Amino acid sequence: MRTSRGWLACALVLLTGAGCTPMDDLLAEIFGRSMRVQPNFNPYADPQGAPEGSVSFASGNFPVGPGVVNLGQPEGAAPPPPVTQLDLLQALTNPEDFPQITRIENPVAADSESLARGQVLYNRACTPCHGEDGAGGGPIAAAAPVMGYSLMQDQSLGLSEGYIYSIIRVGRGAMPAYGHQLTHYDRWHVVNYVRQLQGQSPGQAEPAEPDADTEPGTSEN
Ligand code: HEC
Repeated sequence: MRTSRGWLACALVLLTGAGCTPMDDLLAEIFGRSMRVQPNFNPYADPQGAPEGSVSFASGNFPVGPGVVNLGQPEGAAPPPPVTQLDLLQALTNPEDFPQITRIENPVAADSESLARGQVLYNRACTPCHGEDGAGGGPIAAAAPVMGYSLMQDQSLGLSEGYIYSIIRVGRGAMPAYGHQLTHYDRWHVVNYVRQLQGQSPGQAEPAEPDADTEPGTSEN
């Protein structure tokens, strides 16, 4: 009799929604364990802190080769200029009003190493929409034609390298931003590769030193 009253009380607790802790406690009494005490991590619990002396790097900051740490940004560089998608839109018609987009200089020479890396990154991040050849026939374009924007149109061919760098960074309209996935130098490698795809001579003739004064770019996007 006493037991059945106990169960009744317990069912009441459950039904009235008074919380599951008493129920848990009861089950723990009966079975010797409870759901609340488990040998696992709580949601978002950090299973292990970063090892002492470790150097963090931006997400998506893929190293340029095995065993190479790619910090990606010029040391001590000023933060990148605040550029918005609206700026990018307006810069299409008024390029001179947006030197922070259209006049950034490409610090990466378009040598074979840069183009090879640009190709890897382009194929990873850009082909889904723009297609391997840049003409817009990527797999996403098959499902959503508006995404299959061709980079071979007159407008695209006329864009400055700084513009391409910036659109990779912040996106524009239907094009998502890739600044969080492609770091400063990687964006320039992609720019060089896009230029090559477009049949334009990519990069600057001068292999400029990565220079903190002239370059935007920090560990953020
Ligand atoms: C999810 C689809 C998608 C991906 C992935 C994508 N783009 Fe785009 N891209 C677009 C769309 C759509 C537009 C046109 C945006 C608009 O109408 O303003 C565009 C526009 C552009 C333009 C401007 C062209 C012009 O004529 O103004 C450039 C340059 C460009 N993308 C380069 C890239 C590069 C480089 C990558 C890879 C880092 C990339 N895109 C990844 C969809 C994408």
